[in-house]
Amino acid sequence: MKGLILSGGKGTRLRPFTYTGAKQLVPVANKPVLFYAIEDLVEAGVTDLCIVISPETGDQVKAAVGDGSRFGARVEYIVQDAPRGIAHGIKIARDFIGDERFILFLGDNFIRDGIISQVNAFREGTMNAQIILYKLEDPSSMGVAVLDGDGRVTRLVEKPKQFISPYGVIGIYMFDHHVFEAVNAIKPSARGELEITDTIQYLIDHKLDVRAHLLNGAWIDTGKMSDILEANRLVLDTLEPKNEGQVDGTSIIEGRVVLQAGAVIQNSRIRGPAIIGERTRIENAFVGPYTSIYHDCLIRHCEIEHSVVLEHSTIVDIPTRIADSLIGRNTEVARAGGHTKTLKMMIGDYSKVGI
Ligand code: DAU
Repeated sequence: MKGLILSGGKGTRLRPFTYTGAKQLVPVANKPVLFYAIEDLVEAGVTDLCIVISPETGDQVKAAVGDGSRFGARVEYIVQDAPRGIAHGIKIARDFIGDERFILFLGDNFIRDGIISQVNAFREGTMNAQIILYKLEDPSSMGVAVLDGDGRVTRLVEKPKQFISPYGVIGIYMFDHHVFEAVNAIKPSARGELEITDTIQYLIDHKLDVRAHLLNGAWIDTGKMSDILEANRLVLDTLEPKNEGQVDGTSIIEGRVVLQAGAVIQNSRIRGPAIIGERTRIENAFVGPYTSIYHDCLIRHCEIEHSVVLEHSTIVDIPTRIADSLIGRNTEVARAGGHTKTLKMMIGDYSKVGI
């Protein structure tokens, strides 16, 4: 079985982070979300992988993942010229997949408990496709599946405007070669994309065996800031404490904390679960629960909790506690000189600041 990961697209919902970076590389507990997808596939015994990348962010994805050897996988890449839809991603991977059964994994989907059982069921079964459903009060931002009385999928609708069913279709799909007939037959939707929901609907309409598996564990589409914070919480809750950094005698480390290589903690308190990245310095500061500070950051004279800070950022001399925040790459948050009630800001397009 092969694995196809989609890591192209535009990432409009995660702006401004995705102006300069691939959304699949936004870190969750200091690891790009895409790496969890690769690890889930490898753990399920799927090591022959292809990643669909975009012309804009493809080089970053390639640089981060490489040839896959450090994941125990073999990774090749296909550039998708524009985000023409998830089904288009399947279409352009025909040569890579050949006639094998495969797993399609959307590179921004995060599933806490891995995919071993679902992959095994598909590997051992005779079904033509398997989708995974997640029950939600409001799945209107996803593809939604309608089931009949026997639990069979009868209809799929992409982001329905009205409530039709509580079952959202998560971004991990399994197909055999029949899917190529479907992606070649369907037409672009109103938003101009070849939709994965139309693809699966085609298989159902042509009487192929499409099964649905209802997921019990946690699943997150990391497309929005609140989703990144939630995924970060889920992973931090499972971390084993580790110290590969340096902690001075006046600092206090409480609870489950990971200090990555070269992290330096001076006169500070770190209250886990939290992770401090490589070469990051924490000085005279408080880092509270559910915080991930990525590599090469400086956190000095401030308090921060329940937040994610991306690489090469500096937060210095902030009098109020920072919480529930996602702070981008190469940013500087510092106290302004001059009038104490003045805020001095240079904020990128589509940013959000709460004061
Ligand atoms: O997360 C699950 C949902 O993913 C499903 O329920 C929907 O049926 C499915 O259409 C998809 O919806 P999204 O609106 O979340 O898709 P998004 O545009 O965010 O793309 C998902 C991933 O696939 C993302 O990592 C980017 C990548 N992608 C997307 C498109 C449209 C590509 O690589 N190429 C593309 O053309």
